[in-house]
Amino acid sequence: MKSGRPVENPGLRYHGKPGQFELWPGVRGAHSWLPQSFSPDTGLLYIPVIEGASRIGDDGLDLANLPPALGSGVMMDPDPDLPGARRGFLKAWDPIAQKERWRVALPGNWPGGVLSTAGGLVFQGRLDGFLVAYDATSGKELWRFAAGAPVVAPPISYRLGGTQYVTVLTGNGAGGGGLFSPENAKLETDYYLPRRVLTFALTGKASLPPRDPALTRAPLADPGFVPDPKLLEAGGRAFGQCMTCHGMQALAAGSGPNLRTSPIILDAAAFRTVVKEGALVPAGMPRFDRIDDASLEAIRHYLRFRAQQYVAKKREGSTARRPL
Ligand code: HEC
Repeated sequence: MKSGRPVENPGLRYHGKPGQFELWPGVRGAHSWLPQSFSPDTGLLYIPVIEGASRIGDDGLDLANLPPALGSGVMMDPDPDLPGARRGFLKAWDPIAQKERWRVALPGNWPGGVLSTAGGLVFQGRLDGFLVAYDATSGKELWRFAAGAPVVAPPISYRLGGTQYVTVLTGNGAGGGGLFSPENAKLETDYYLPRRVLTFALTGKASLPPRDPALTRAPLADPGFVPDPKLLEAGGRAFGQCMTCHGMQALAAGSGPNLRTSPIILDAAAFRTVVKEGALVPAGMPRFDRIDDASLEAIRHYLRFRAQQYVAKKREGSTARRPL
């Protein structure tokens, strides 16, 4: 415009609209920090694609009483379960022809960083714990390795003493894997899985140690628990400060432990020691020393409720950790 003002799509503003506005891609975008890779040999760009939406609105928002931490002044469901959402792809894109050449559907929607090599390979890790090599031209899977933990970091390749190596870090890559997607928490992304640096060579013969069964926590027994709707509401709000690491609805995907199976939530004193007094600060659990006692207890109540739901689901024989 002559005025220099942007030309707005009239449907774009969510302010004052009833209900919530649907945004594609969602708040994480279609592509996050997870690096893509360009191969000058194939002329293709290999992109880790996040496909998802968010719902945003300010309907009924009480500005004087925003939830802590994520109180951004909007109501947001960062990752609603809409048709076609909550998906992730590895996409081979021809930037000259502006055409997709191939794509691979991935588990979860936090796709790993990508490496393409002069040997005609594309390497990418997955949230369900595999590192996979594809044919760079066709997308055909050629090799996979069970890494025993999610692989989200981009692999690197280098030559030393005549041997070519591929190295990758395991781990779920922080917030994106944990915060938004119940989808991701269904996969094998448990926080207590050992994270490693893995290095591969064609001549390599080492194998990973077997998984330690002690790492798998049993569902909690809390038979006396009776949920109180008021406390749940307050606890759910206050849990906003915790979910960047412990997951939406306390469904952690690996950035912090799954609190639904944490025995600490059954004991008020232990919970206080960890959350308010900072007993686990050296291990990465922040100290929330300004939290008031009522909120602390409300959060614990909320977590016991989520744990109870988790136990009920397990009893139904459901193996997938579905969002609740
Ligand atoms: C910045 C990330 C982060 C945030 C935010 C966070 N936590 Fe944690 N939390 C962690 C990590 C990491 C651990 C695991 C520490 C360890 O390895 O023992 C943890 C552990 C815990 C544990 C102990 C679990 C167990 O079984 O050992 C509890 C309970 C807990 N957090 C509650 C909370 C609550 C309640 C909040 C919000 C008020 C919160 N956390 C916010 C990262 C976080």
